[in-house]
Amino acid sequence: MDKVIRYLVSGLAVLIVGLICYVYQTGYRIEDENAQDHSQMRNVLTNSNLAGEQIRRGEYLTRVGNCAACHTARGAALYAGGKLIPSPFGNFISPNITPDMQTGIGRWTADDFWRALHFGKARDGSLLYPAFPYPNYTLVSRTDSDAMFAYLRSIPAVNQVSLPHQLAFPYNQRPLLAIWRTLYFKPHSFAVVAGQSSTWNRGAYLVNGLGHCSACHSSRNMLGANAGTQDLDGGEMPSIAWYAPSLLRLNEAHLANQTDLEVAQLFRRAIAEKGVMSGPMAEVFADSLQHLKTDDIDAMTLYLKSLAPKPDSVPAYKTEYSPQVFSTVMTQGEVLYKKHCADCHGHAGEGIAGIYPALKENHSVLMPNVANPIRIILTGGFPPVSKENPRPYGMPPFAPVLDDNEVALVLTYIRHRWGNQASAVTAAEVNRYRNAPVN
Ligand code: HEC
Ligand code: HEC
Ligand code: HEC
Repeated sequence: MDKVIRYLVSGLAVLIVGLICYVYQTGYRIEDENAQDHSQMRNVLTNSNLAGEQIRRGEYLTRVGNCAACHTARGAALYAGGKLIPSPFGNFISPNITPDMQTGIGRWTADDFWRALHFGKARDGSLLYPAFPYPNYTLVSRTDSDAMFAYLRSIPAVNQVSLPHQLAFPYNQRPLLAIWRTLYFKPHSFAVVAGQSSTWNRGAYLVNGLGHCSACHSSRNMLGANAGTQDLDGGEMPSIAWYAPSLLRLNEAHLANQTDLEVAQLFRRAIAEKGVMSGPMAEVFADSLQHLKTDDIDAMTLYLKSLAPKPDSVPAYKTEYSPQVFSTVMTQGEVLYKKHCADCHGHAGEGIAGIYPALKENHSVLMPNVANPIRIILTGGFPPVSKENPRPYGMPPFAPVLDDNEVALVLTYIRHRWGNQASAVTAAEVNRYRNAPVN
């Protein structure tokens, strides 16, 4: 009996909290009304040249925001949705955002669109899931939002019904998002930091807002929340088992640790002497970063380089071998390396600039989190195709060739030769990733 009463009381408490949150959340509508007055004035674009210019700018901005990454399914119509986005709560299926009247956003106004981006609310006022990275997009200016809307109005309408998400209970209860939002989200605008240059501020606006770097480069709690738009401290992407390195730690991907040339190579060709953008980052590069104006890349780089570094990350646990065992491990690793890897990556791990990344002093190889090098050795891959690297050279998958122990041996070897010094890797760690999804 006691138990029943306790359940009832806690159920009631959740309901009341939920209700308060809901009222609080829908209260933002009052602010929405205010936003409308402004927009009507701003939206009067009499000159068609101006409108054309706005559409072009909007197209560029959707590239920066990488809207297509989620709203365009592979091989399907642009922005017609239907792409599956896995998460620990189930699969999200992106909606159709083409201007179709029945199934897309054809009936939306610029205000509705702004409300989605800035407040995270659908046209009917219902709350949107933060799988749509509006916790970052909230920083996007009204002018930029209007430009993206103008562009999305100009693309072909596609009649394709948006499918319901496939979420587990209780995450499929949309009104419960009110609680999540009360805890973790408040619409806010980008605040220019006085004392920093306009380039720096532009960089901050792009990285934290439209670029939504923190959506991947942060760790999330049980309810899928991170510590905000500036949380760039790295995290393993839960459903696909890639590690998005910390952009704040010098022993991971803090750009302050890279020369201007390396950064330029990375952002222009996705492959620098000692690093390559792979997995989900290769997609970010292919669909978004490679299309960015040099000024914008420079602004983002300036901002990222300026971030106060956090202390170096350390491995979750260190594999301890006796010196004798370790020397056997290194000998076995070397045999494997010479047989399978040295042809491309070089006998001293030096690689071939622009073609095969060096493994010596390579951050991805040396990071305490070993998810990415394991995944790359198992699945191989190609750097993304770009204007500056139209025919990239690839790496074959070694999953069919090497067992878990052999992958561990060769990875331990490359983490410990040529001046590299990182912890050893075990077969059990490799096994975690053997059956991980490819993307
Ligand atoms: C990481 C994936 C992801 C990215 C990137 C993304 N979206 Fe979405 N978007 C979603 C998901 C998932 C939903 C559905 C949310 C829901 O049902 O609550 C959504 C919903 C929307 C909606 C509401 C549609 C409706 O019918 O209610 C709009 C508008 C939208 N996105 C526009 C954009 C724009 C513009 C961009 C780029 C600036 C963008 N999205 C980038 C995943 C994404
Ligand atoms: C045929 C040439 C080739 C061979 C053989 C090869 N690699 Fe690679 N390797 C590449 C290329 C190309 C890339 C970039 C792949 C990408 O971008 O997806 C790469 C990437 C990597 C990376 C990721 C580096 C980074 O900066 O993220 C690691 C680690 C790696 N290789 C290790 C190995 C190991 C260990 C072997 C042997 C078991 C091996 N490679 C064999 C060509 C090769
Ligand atoms: C969809 C998830 C995702 C988004 C969004 C994302 N990243 Fe990444 N990023 C990753 C992953 C995963 C890696 C690790 C793989 C790799 O090394 O390329 C990575 C790696 C990187 C690296 C290291 C590359 C190297 O190997 O040296 C840099 C720098 C980086 N990201 C910057 C950014 C910036 C800046 C943004 C925002 C404009 C961003 N990322 C947005 C997932 C993402």
